[in-house]
Amino acid sequence: MSTRVITNIAELTTNDPTTGDESLMGRWHDAAIVLDDERVLWIGPNAHAPDADEVIDARGAAVVPGFVDSHTHLVFAGERSDEFEARMAGSRYDGGGIARTVASTRAASLEQLRDATAHRRAELLAGGVTTVEIKSGYELTTEGEVRLLGVAQSFSDEVTFLGAHVVPQQYAHDRDAYVALVCGEMLDACAPLARWADVFCDDGAFSVDEARHILATARGAGLALRVHGNQLGDTGGVALAVELDAASVDHCTYVNDRDVEMLAASSTVATLLPGAEFSTRSPYPSARRLLDAGVTVALATDCNPGTSYVTSMAWVIALGVREMGMTCDEALWAATRGGAWALRRDDIGVLRAGARADLVILDAPRAAHLAYRPGAALVRQTVRA
Ligand code: NIG
Ligand code: FE
Repeated sequence: MSTRVITNIAELTTNDPTTGDESLMGRWHDAAIVLDDERVLWIGPNAHAPDADEVIDARGAAVVPGFVDSHTHLVFAGERSDEFEARMAGSRYDGGGIARTVASTRAASLEQLRDATAHRRAELLAGGVTTVEIKSGYELTTEGEVRLLGVAQSFSDEVTFLGAHVVPQQYAHDRDAYVALVCGEMLDACAPLARWADVFCDDGAFSVDEARHILATARGAGLALRVHGNQLGDTGGVALAVELDAASVDHCTYVNDRDVEMLAASSTVATLLPGAEFSTRSPYPSARRLLDAGVTVALATDCNPGTSYVTSMAWVIALGVREMGMTCDEALWAATRGGAWALRRDDIGVLRAGARADLVILDAPRAAHLAYRPGAALVRQTVRA
């Protein structure tokens, strides 16, 4: 195992409140960090940096934990820019376009799906994402969902079975039969390939009762839970996620006061996906309201061809700051440590001895530049265990 030291770090964000300035961000100035191939070994003042096999001179740059993108639909074929254009001209998003991506994904070869996913994974990595959650959900047949999870597995350990994305057209007149398929043969085939189960619980997708049944069955098959909730309306997904102790409820575009109270009293993370509000011209949720109530908030890209064809976590951070009332530090924390909590992981989104050696060297002296300079390519180097 070889070691490397990164020296001359002007500002190091660790997210470890027991070190550095002992704030939530655990911030160091004029620091160095030592890594081996897998783990962080040491953090301290630059002047005391020990020797290592390789030296990387950060030359006064800021270093942050690698971004944790806890919500993506990375495995799909085709694109839907025509729908985006129509929305920008006034039409509304209702989830109906998912069927188009299902058709193009079913028609794609395994090699085409792998290549398309690899391309998007490379974009995320170049933008500093060191952990990515990947969902299935664009085939909606047993063999198809197995195929998508297989592709997802070659890019991540954080793989999510989303057979309950929408009811496919063939089952439009027999929803119960599709729910039974998802909970039966499809779950049996998919559970061994995934860590998580997710349901799109919303208008036009699955009802709260359907989602509860699917998620409870998936938990019985050994999967941990996450929920797409309250994206299109105040539809009960948040309360269901809390009831089931899901790790995360994602979107939270329309939440009521009771939802906020329940989230604050729970260990369910609210994952906000402002790329979706941007791309559907919807109102942004207020991260401020959630944070002030004591809710744990994560930020993620939701990379998908319908509502958020986004691979830049830096841009998501900028939206969190500018449109959702977050401070620069809150948005950075949500995109790193918040994402880690949304995946119930304690070894990522933080830099301290023993944590995974996942970090980003920025082309900027301070992490605040991520929001201050939106659109600039600020990731100089991504280091991934
Ligand atoms: O997270 N909300 C459900 N799923 C995706 C959109 C999928 C699509 O439109 O293709 C989302 O926004
Ligand atoms: Fe999504």
